[in-house]
Amino acid sequence: MVTGVDLGIPRVPTARTAPDRPRPAEPALVDSFGRVATDLRVSVTDRCNLRCTYCMPAEGLDWMPQQQVLTDDELVRLVDIAVRLLGVTDVRLTGGEPLLRPHLEDLVARMAALTPRPRLAMTTNGVGFAKRARAFADAGLDRINISLDTIDPETFATMTRRDRLRHVLDALAAARDAGLEPVKINAVLMRGLNDHQATDLLRFALDHGYHLRFIEQMPLDAQHGWSRADMITADEILALLRTEFDLTPSPTRRGGAPAERWLVNGGPGEVGIIPSVTRPFCAACERTRLTADGAVRSCLFSTTETDLRGLLREGADDERIADAWRDAMWGKLAGHEINEAGFAQPIRPMSAIGG
Ligand code: 5AD
Ligand code: SF4
Repeated sequence: MVTGVDLGIPRVPTARTAPDRPRPAEPALVDSFGRVATDLRVSVTDRCNLRCTYCMPAEGLDWMPQQQVLTDDELVRLVDIAVRLLGVTDVRLTGGEPLLRPHLEDLVARMAALTPRPRLAMTTNGVGFAKRARAFADAGLDRINISLDTIDPETFATMTRRDRLRHVLDALAAARDAGLEPVKINAVLMRGLNDHQATDLLRFALDHGYHLRFIEQMPLDAQHGWSRADMITADEILALLRTEFDLTPSPTRRGGAPAERWLVNGGPGEVGIIPSVTRPFCAACERTRLTADGAVRSCLFSTTETDLRGLLREGADDERIADAWRDAMWGKLAGHEINEAGFAQPIRPMSAIGG
């Protein structure tokens, strides 16, 4: 069995401390390990209408007070700074569930009108998306990732604590019909819940022309329930899929994209596996993150963040905000350290950072 093939991702040693060298006078979001962040993830809300067990408790979380959340004008101003002054080329809207932000189509249209125009993507759970797909495509959304862990209605209801599978299936079809292709599916496997359904999900994706990617579960849930023993590893996912499919490494280059890609039964269908924990891709990371309350995070797992909302609200000019963002990224650590002794989960859960 071919597992753990080296797909050419460089590794850098982990370091716990911020760089002691001064940041070079470059416009781009560079860090001290030579990486350049061009991919901005913007969380537009921390709220969600599902309750995935690997993400948040049944009762939900204490949502951010509204006055702490960036307004549309503040958000657009920060994204404008990112694309015009910091070299960001790709913007992905995330949550919580981004569709819960009122008038998100308008926000997309405003971002699509920026110069240079960023490529615009969204990660959503798909609930309520079907009827809005056309409006998003018209507004300038280029691509979409829809989260779907199972196509079995009962398992879906157990895993998300909501009976909404039909919404998500309709969202996928509507995204494809609106031309938001390739439509990607993100899936997380949970031991004893949906791991035995991995092949069903892949067959479904292949039948409909959706690009399925399995993500290793990361320690980012609000209730701190993650355990290494329960996590289904990338190698296990491969083995599960190989009970029904022939998988060979895809010739498509991985670049900064985290998915290891496999041809299914010789192609052209593919499946991706994102081994965030067991084969971290931090050395190729091109991401910078903005939370719904205006904090820059250089990594999902950062234990520090840089507040830009305060600067915005005290009237700082674009260059000052850009410099604060550059400083935040210069201090980016080499890697996430999940596999190191003494790893501490960040205080913010995934739903308040953005996927
Ligand atoms: N580990 C891995 N993926 C996660 N997601 C949410 N929480 C986790 C986690 N702890 C996924 C969601 C969605 C995307 C935003 O990230 O399923 O697809
Ligand atoms: Fe909501 Fe996404 Fe968390 Fe599920 S994983 S509860 S859809 S934010």
